[in-house]
Amino acid sequence: PRVAVIVVAAGSGQRLGAPVPKAFVGLDAHTILRHALRNVFAAPLAQVVVVAPEDRVGDALTDAHAVAGERHDLVTVVAGGATRQASVAAGLAAVWSDVDLVLVHDAARALTPPAVFERVISALEGGRAAVLPVVPVVDTIKRIDADAVVEAVDRSVLAAAQTPQGFSRRVLDAAYADASADHTDDAALVQAAGVPVDTVAGDERAFKITTAADLDRARALLRSAAE
Ligand code: C5P
Repeated sequence: PRVAVIVVAAGSGQRLGAPVPKAFVGLDAHTILRHALRNVFAAPLAQVVVVAPEDRVGDALTDAHAVAGERHDLVTVVAGGATRQASVAAGLAAVWSDVDLVLVHDAARALTPPAVFERVISALEGGRAAVLPVVPVVDTIKRIDADAVVEAVDRSVLAAAQTPQGFSRRVLDAAYADASADHTDDAALVQAAGVPVDTVAGDERAFKITTAADLDRARALLRSAAE
């Protein structure tokens, strides 16, 4: 089957407090987006669609071509929307007609190991319609009401959702065509459309760079890998 990966990189990164959109913040000599794309290109792909802020399409193309090398023909860059879901929809509209499987990945999960992509793709190849990488929840989670704790939630029945999330192209197209509410990830949107979602093991290193502390952690991981 032919696989496309949509890399969403059109967020502003307000919680990071950087002067440039998050995907264009440097981790070392290279941006978050470029690191994310390195791990994406380790998989055997038919197409990579990068969704960038409207005024950063050129910068995204530069990063993508630097990583793609001879495979630059596989790269498509489009402008994103106001929400993550709108950005994925823009990416999906640019997926080639001969693609069978679509993975959606957050650029902000820049250090996601290639093995996570492999697990998601092989579950799809095994016939799953929707595949979500998850990791156990390590914190004790509370349900709250304003300042008061209502109850502790049993964390053994919880998992934290990561990306890349993988889908049969037909399933993802149909879910997006019918989408009404805004969802924070694609698995939630597909599940709301009545499609069962299966899990595979995620990876601690697939954490989403959201805050300044996450950025420090990503930079430290890269420094220790370089030593
Ligand atoms: O904001 P957050 O980090 O949770 O966003 C997850 C991913 O979705 C990021 O890679 C971000 O660039 C992307 N995104 C997007 N378009 C938006 C909002 C977020 O592509 N409007």
